[in-house]
Amino acid sequence: MLAVIITLLVLHSMEVEAKWKTLYCSAPNDEFGEILLCKLKIIDRYRNSVNINYRVKKEISQVTARLEFFKRGNGWRPFLYNISTDGCSFLNNRNNLIINIFYSYVKPYLAQNLTCPIKANEVLKLENFEFDINQFRNRFPIETGEYAVHTSLYSRKKLLVLMKTTLEYSNYREN
Ligand SMILES: *[C@@H]1O[C@H](CO)[C@@H](O)[C@H](O)[C@H]1NC(C)=O
Ligand SMILES: *[C@@H]1O[C@H](CO)[C@@H](O)[C@H](O)[C@H]1NC(C)=O
Repeated sequence: MLAVIITLLVLHSMEVEAKWKTLYCSAPNDEFGEILLCKLKIIDRYRNSVNINYRVKKEISQVTARLEFFKRGNGWRPFLYNISTDGCSFLNNRNNLIINIFYSYVKPYLAQNLTCPIKANEVLKLENFEFDINQFRNRFPIETGEYAVHTSLYSRKKLLVLMKTTLEYSNYREN
């Protein structure tokens, strides 16, 4: 019994760290908008953040958002979710539970409130988006390893933006 308690205490106090590893953005249909910034900023040895600016060139009144998750094992494998939703209907009704969890997580890092339609010349900014593993694992108790998230936004089947991030989640911090 005591051994179990000690093990639990040790597991509980184990340091974890999670940090973005790579970031890639593309906007293949550049008549709709352009990427002004797509950058990982280093905060310190253990922390970094994602920074993305996208300038809308044409008003967007219909948008489909897709989130795909991958875990690295023997190559990258689909993991957990691959979900799409109608972005404008979501912003009005928050009608997708999983996307809502992720949106709530990202929202504090958005420079503006998203509403539809998104006007031409608006610059959508994701600023200093750090991955807070402790907050995340309360809901999704994921194992350590490497993960990737692909976020794509489509308008009438045309890809507006694709953002790919990978992140590394490990157990120990060397001091
Ligand atoms: C996710 O779903 C879309 C639409 O069904 C599909 O095109 C895509 O290949 C899927 N992605 C993965 C990683 O399975
Ligand atoms: C977003 O909306 C909230 C509530 O409507 C408002 O208080 C806040 O100032 C808005 N934020 C921005 C960045 O426009």
